[in-house]
Amino acid sequence: MKNWWKETVFYELYMPSFNDSNGDGKGDFKGIIEKLDYLKNLGITGIWLTPFYQSPKIDNGYDISDYYSVDSDYGTMEDFEEFLDQAHKRGIKVIADLVLNHTSDQHKWFQEAKKSKDNSYRNYYIWKKNPNNWESFFSGSAWEWDEGTNEYYYHKFAVGQVDLNWSNPKVREEANKILEFWMDKGIDGFRLDVINFMTCEGITEDNPMDEKGEQDHKFDINQPGILDAIGGINKCVKSYGDKFLVGEIGSENLDVLKRYRDDGLLDVVFNFNLGSKKNFDAKEFYDEIEKMEKDLNGYPTIFFGSHDMPRHMSRFGESKRDIERAKAVATFILTTKGVPFLYYGDEIGMTNLVANTLNEINDIQGRTNYKIERQKGGSHREALKIANEKTRDKSRSPMQWNSKENSGFTTGIPWIKINENYKILNVEDERNRIDSLFNHYKKMIRLRKIEETLSYGEYKNLKYIDGLISFERVYEGERVYIYINFTQTSNIVLPDGVYEVLAGEAKNILIKNEILILKKGRK
Ligand code: NOJ
Repeated sequence: MKNWWKETVFYELYMPSFNDSNGDGKGDFKGIIEKLDYLKNLGITGIWLTPFYQSPKIDNGYDISDYYSVDSDYGTMEDFEEFLDQAHKRGIKVIADLVLNHTSDQHKWFQEAKKSKDNSYRNYYIWKKNPNNWESFFSGSAWEWDEGTNEYYYHKFAVGQVDLNWSNPKVREEANKILEFWMDKGIDGFRLDVINFMTCEGITEDNPMDEKGEQDHKFDINQPGILDAIGGINKCVKSYGDKFLVGEIGSENLDVLKRYRDDGLLDVVFNFNLGSKKNFDAKEFYDEIEKMEKDLNGYPTIFFGSHDMPRHMSRFGESKRDIERAKAVATFILTTKGVPFLYYGDEIGMTNLVANTLNEINDIQGRTNYKIERQKGGSHREALKIANEKTRDKSRSPMQWNSKENSGFTTGIPWIKINENYKILNVEDERNRIDSLFNHYKKMIRLRKIEETLSYGEYKNLKYIDGLISFERVYEGERVYIYINFTQTSNIVLPDGVYEVLAGEAKNILIKNEILILKKGRK
């Protein structure tokens, strides 16, 4: 079946770091509008906006205090509407990141809930006299004592991110209202944050510990009732027509991911097994796409970057800033089967940010890990090292637009350090250099758009031989051959008959990181 999202190349745009229009050092909607032509020129047809709702931002917006308003750092509701309109005029769809697992502790529901045990909002959250052993994913207990009402409340993430009680039908109604509000504004779909984490059955048994002594989240995630809750979200969203739902499912297990990928649930789910690969290993990439083809029903997603993981340019070999390898990775993302998600800045090969001082670390994960290390008696230096390892700031530094002051991102003081390499690594230079990574992305995205087979085609002859990944994509009588060579040299057998060369050079030997894309039946 045809759906717009199967033909879309998405771009995750991290709100505070894309482009600042008013000099306050933070990205905003007006700033994004200024850059929509840039995205259109790159070929992007879908934007994933990270949270832009009102928020105290202890976790950069993943702690919403009002689902119905735009955070003033990012502009006004009118700015949002103008942005959406301008994006749509350029043929770009927009999906909103929505956090329904928890709210900020500053949300009026929670402010009410903690007033008294019989407050009508009390049951929007989860309370307990005696906590169990469930741990927060951000470290420590998932339970926080509330002085006022003498009970603990439940938070799977930070203390300021309070879990909603999805066994309460009122919470489900509120969620539908929120979804409808943004769809009425014209939003084309949602990225649902940690959606398999929602607490639907209340608090049950203690979690067991695994062999490493770490908590096995057996009872606090993937709870009974979760599919029903997501089914409700799906029903509401799909009543608006062809809207799109992508879920962040925290699990390494494809059998778990598979449960959530269903026409009545989520259109696609993120698979972090591929997305967060630590090292560059073509065999591992291949194994993942093969597994997804065999074990994941429907369309997969293909991505190698997000605001939660280090930049892939750094993971896959920063020392040489291996552009040819990055180009091969881009080809992989844009030719394999699935919905591609690019992360802002990856199109120019942006690298990890390194903080020199504690002040330069914003992310709650980085700061918490610093504190833990200090409590354990670690020196400032050691703690800073750990904080740098754990912080997700690495991939959140401002977009590097040009080599001028503050990389052209802001005229003010940037909210987070700008990567020092912006003078030699920026959009302006990349656009001007014919053989740049940026121009390679542009070429591949264009190819994907022209050749429908790359969006809809099934795999044939998916193979890995000595560092060479090769496959065919077949759709409605058309056949495209793709060879991505990640090794020194590889011999390939060119297909018989007549074909057109879509990218690369048709020869029997490919050298390291070379690619070749052919189409059957035309010269
Ligand atoms: C997943 C988001 O991607 C991450 O950035 C956030 O910290 C957690 N969910 C909590 O909302």
